[in-house]
Amino acid sequence: TYAPVPAKEDFLGCLVKEIPARLLYAKSSPAYPTVLAQTIRNSRWSTPENVKPLYIITPTNASHIQSAVVCGRRHGVRLRVRSGGHDYEGLSYRSEKPETFAVVDLNNMRTVTVDAKASTAWVDSGAQLGELYYAISKSSPVLGFPAGVCPSIGVGGNFAGGGFGMLLRKYGIAAENVIDVKVVDVNGTLLDKSSMSADHFWAVRGGGGESFGIVVSWQVKLVPVPPTVTVFKIPKTVKEGAVDLINKWQTVAPALPGDLMIRVIAMGDKATFEAMYLGTCKTLTPLMTSKFPELGMNPYDCNEMSWIKSTPFIHLGNKATLDDLLNRNNSFKPFAEYKSDYVYEPVPKPVWEQIFGWLVKPGAGIMIMDPYGATISATPEAATPFPHRKGVLFNIQYVNYWFAEAAGAAPLQWSKDIYKFMEPYVSKNPRQAYANYRDIDLGRNEVVNDISTYSSGKVWGEKYFKGNFQRLAITKGKVDPQDYFRNEQSIPPLVEKY
Ligand code: FDA
Repeated sequence: TYAPVPAKEDFLGCLVKEIPARLLYAKSSPAYPTVLAQTIRNSRWSTPENVKPLYIITPTNASHIQSAVVCGRRHGVRLRVRSGGHDYEGLSYRSEKPETFAVVDLNNMRTVTVDAKASTAWVDSGAQLGELYYAISKSSPVLGFPAGVCPSIGVGGNFAGGGFGMLLRKYGIAAENVIDVKVVDVNGTLLDKSSMSADHFWAVRGGGGESFGIVVSWQVKLVPVPPTVTVFKIPKTVKEGAVDLINKWQTVAPALPGDLMIRVIAMGDKATFEAMYLGTCKTLTPLMTSKFPELGMNPYDCNEMSWIKSTPFIHLGNKATLDDLLNRNNSFKPFAEYKSDYVYEPVPKPVWEQIFGWLVKPGAGIMIMDPYGATISATPEAATPFPHRKGVLFNIQYVNYWFAEAAGAAPLQWSKDIYKFMEPYVSKNPRQAYANYRDIDLGRNEVVNDISTYSSGKVWGEKYFKGNFQRLAITKGKVDPQDYFRNEQSIPPLVEKY
């Protein structure tokens, strides 16, 4: 455990002048552990050795956030911002090293206002994706939004790092469908698109959370969905031909029309082909017969439903209800490790055979594979900070869960080993990774003279952002040159040459 850091009394004194005391939780407050734990999703970051915030601030409006920034800067207390708390490395609420920081927790700020006529919505960062989807469906049965699959993810972190789900092939990522934002900058000023620089507006939509100020809310362009979509989940074991099917899938799925997304979840000796089609079974069946007959999909596999019903169905299965979209008390809080990859060249069939060998080893996790192509691949790399575009066949996410702290050795080793094994078959120079699947093993910022260095950030940053990393760092240098908003993987400011 770390030596306690002395409380910054002046910081609290500053806060209480501007923010009602009931919205502030000091470490000594009885409610502090509950408030902190509320949205921790990875139990690895709940254990005592994690460095916790001195205070948790739970604003109910933008002016509270502005005050938190002003007080934090005046009294030398950093702020980490938490929306849904799903950060894989917990960087929204814990620090790896001793640090005096407070968390701005946006849990109380989750208004969604839909303008169905204009096909737009304003959504606060503290809303969870399920609340956004639900509110859209209440206003219109034929509008949707292309963000993450898991309904309890926070809008704030998901949009800040890109955000994709079953609509990625048709409509790309969440961030590219954001048309305005309200951001509290490092001076405590509330900015929107018209009052911020074009680079700042570009950076907040996909450049990762924390670095560019606190995004209070987002205006999004809603996308058309038909009244009926079709979902199927077809499991195939290795004995039933999973290897041949995945081998075919990896080139077929990225070339399908944008209306059809077929992802694969590989677990143990089984691959489950999960699809969402923006249309009815009647047109899906002949499409599958012509493009991917080997899967043997037939009308009995079809589940026709509204788009909104498909969102909990895909995540939780056929017992899921719309209430699951609104449930903020998810009790599934495993210990977890995640990594990600991008694949540009088909993985050779014998390698798929070996991968299924890996998936049944002790400590094995699962692999979730999302095909790209269509819209997500057609957008130019520099259009948003999210650079994984042309030529990507699919994204891999390696997910590993365990349920007692002491049980972590085998899954952690498996994650390292499969990541090493996959190296020859995935993107290189840099080996790309998805910013929202944060992986601290890719690198950490070094802080020199109280500023994160560009060279240390480049190591992990080019994996998440490729050539966009430098523009992000230059933008950071303009909007936060003293590196106030930072964590172990925030964008470092690049100022010297510009
Ligand atoms: P959290 O609050 O932890 O924030 C994440 C990062 O963003 C932190 O650095 C934080 O400081 C910063 N941040 C948060 N709010 C901010 C704000 N208002 N302004 C500025 N910075 C802010 N992703 C995906 O694209 N598709 C998917 O289907 C899934 N599925 C999925 C399932 C599960 C179970 C988990 C745990 C995660 C995912 N993800 C995902 C990854 C997810 O998108 C990623 O973890 C997001 O950053 C989470 O956003 P939260 O707001 O919940 O996290």
